[in-house]
Amino acid sequence: MLQFELLKTDGHARRGRLTLNHGVVETPIFMPVGTYGTVKGVTPRSLEEMGAQIILGNTFHLWMRPGLDVLAQFGGLHRFEQWSKPILTDSGGFQVWSLGEMRKISEEGVKFASPVNGDRLFLTPEVSMQIQTALNSDIVMQFDECTPYDTKGHITTEAEARFSMELSRRWAARCKTEFARLENPNALFGIVQGGMYEHLREESLAALVEMDFPGYAVGGVSVGEPKEEMLRIMAHTPHRLPGHKPRYLMGVGTPEDLVEGVAQGVDMFDCVLPTRNARNGHLFTRFGDLKLRNARHRTDQRPLDESCTCYTCAGHRRDDGGVSGGFSRAYLHHLERCGEMLAPMLATIHNLHYYLNLMGEVRAALDAGSFGTFVRQFRQDRARGV
Ligand code: GUN
Ligand code: ZN
Repeated sequence: MLQFELLKTDGHARRGRLTLNHGVVETPIFMPVGTYGTVKGVTPRSLEEMGAQIILGNTFHLWMRPGLDVLAQFGGLHRFEQWSKPILTDSGGFQVWSLGEMRKISEEGVKFASPVNGDRLFLTPEVSMQIQTALNSDIVMQFDECTPYDTKGHITTEAEARFSMELSRRWAARCKTEFARLENPNALFGIVQGGMYEHLREESLAALVEMDFPGYAVGGVSVGEPKEEMLRIMAHTPHRLPGHKPRYLMGVGTPEDLVEGVAQGVDMFDCVLPTRNARNGHLFTRFGDLKLRNARHRTDQRPLDESCTCYTCAGHRRDDGGVSGGFSRAYLHHLERCGEMLAPMLATIHNLHYYLNLMGEVRAALDAGSFGTFVRQFRQDRARGV
């Protein structure tokens, strides 16, 4: 099941509420990425403390390991990974795309060798629906072909983008049929493709709307294109989607991209940036980005972000009234230099908290009717420097 309530709008920006089988999601929302059934380096308990409402999982990876037999024994992904709130799973379309030369695409589906053990595998729209049904994810993504921006320096032509978009459209119809046949009780989203060609995006969108999905994603962005191209598609497509259904921009982006995406009418985002960058010592803060390895932090006793309430920056209040946690830049710099595993753990907590809290501030601003003011302050703060 899926219900979407539109609570408030401001230009294209929307404040909404999404009700799924495993709970309620306040939108706009950022969804942490948990590819292998874990958001890397953080416990589900910590995710809840940070205010995560929905996380991602991945059809492709979970199919390889641990495999469907194991997941089916657990009744799906929720109990296996001990996350009881909503889960969205990507279909495998993007991950197969990432395999590059290793795959062979036909009308029927995608043939490839397992990167884990070399087994020959065949992923089709039907198999993707069967896997996501076994995972029992709250939001199932259609199996699509993520149109690349370029292949070895050759920019995808309009004819290539059209072929790819039309294939995804036919796969969308097959996904819908199989999803219904399986009597999956969750929600299936269609994915708009069309590369960097606006009229192809409009065709893709119209065809998917005709098929009547409970929600829609915009795919094929953040695939190596220049930033201006991404912003052009972000300004073009989302607000053209049906107003009464949730809109998900796949794989985006920086804090600035998220705020701009909301202004363009996007409700849902996911991206590996906060988690992946945390593992490389790249921190996002209200006052700009910070590199933990930089020697300037060696003796700095300040937290990463003086305004942040995360465990890493502010610690948490103990039962006896004292505070535990709240780490200095100097200490985090030290952990990073020593390659200690606490460094990426604390950095991940901070970055995810920053992203989740940013979206919480966006929702509060939309509630208060002050989104425009919020955006100006956000830009000014981010440009200040840490
Ligand atoms: N993740 C980021 N972009 C895409 C896309 O175009 N399709 C899918 N399935 N996943 C994505
Ligand atoms: Zn913090």
